[in-house]
Amino acid sequence: MWSINTNKYLGGFIVVAWLLLVVDFVGDQLIPPIEPIVSKASAETVSAEKAVDKPAVPEQPLNVLLATANVDKGKKVAKKCVACHSFESGGKNKVGPNLHNILGKNRAGASGFSYSSAIKTMGGKWGFEDMNAFLKKPKKFMPGTKMSFSGLKKAGDRAAVILYLRSFSDSPVTLP
Ligand code: HEC
Repeated sequence: MWSINTNKYLGGFIVVAWLLLVVDFVGDQLIPPIEPIVSKASAETVSAEKAVDKPAVPEQPLNVLLATANVDKGKKVAKKCVACHSFESGGKNKVGPNLHNILGKNRAGASGFSYSSAIKTMGGKWGFEDMNAFLKKPKKFMPGTKMSFSGLKKAGDRAAVILYLRSFSDSPVTLP
């Protein structure tokens, strides 16, 4: 039966539904949707983590690395070289030549060492950039070299060892 009461309930229902719509609408306007912000933030975190894994930034330039490198670290890295090289003045040639005062010196310049023809034909003097390239991958920089050493992968290690090599000189060459 259609009664006054039914009308009251129906009217009440419509008012409540309408209020809900209004509140929902106003709420949406006042508070920006939260979800998209959260997912954007986490997407950024993920890409930041990826960036740490695979640096999109190239290696720092050698002069910057040399400016922040230290000789003590270089000495540690140079443990990989001492089986074959001595560094001090008048040190013996071993499997590899003595490396005293090597930066700024002619390539293949240690007396009494039998060098490969690869290094002899390359000629020139040892500078910072070429030393860095040589120590990264000796056989790539100088195909045919007798130096059987796989190389120092880390740019920071190379800068440190170069700084260490440079310290074996009475008048070390100026840093780049
Ligand atoms: C397994 C032995 C071995 C190791 C390890 C080794 N070298 Fe050598 N290195 C040699 C030999 C042999 C040569 C001579 C290369 C030639 O004749 O082609 C050489 C040559 C060089 C030269 C050129 C010298 C010159 O008179 O022109 C430099 C510089 C050098 N090594 C630096 C290093 C450094 C720095 C390390 C360590 C990070 C290192 N080497 C590790 C064997 C080695």
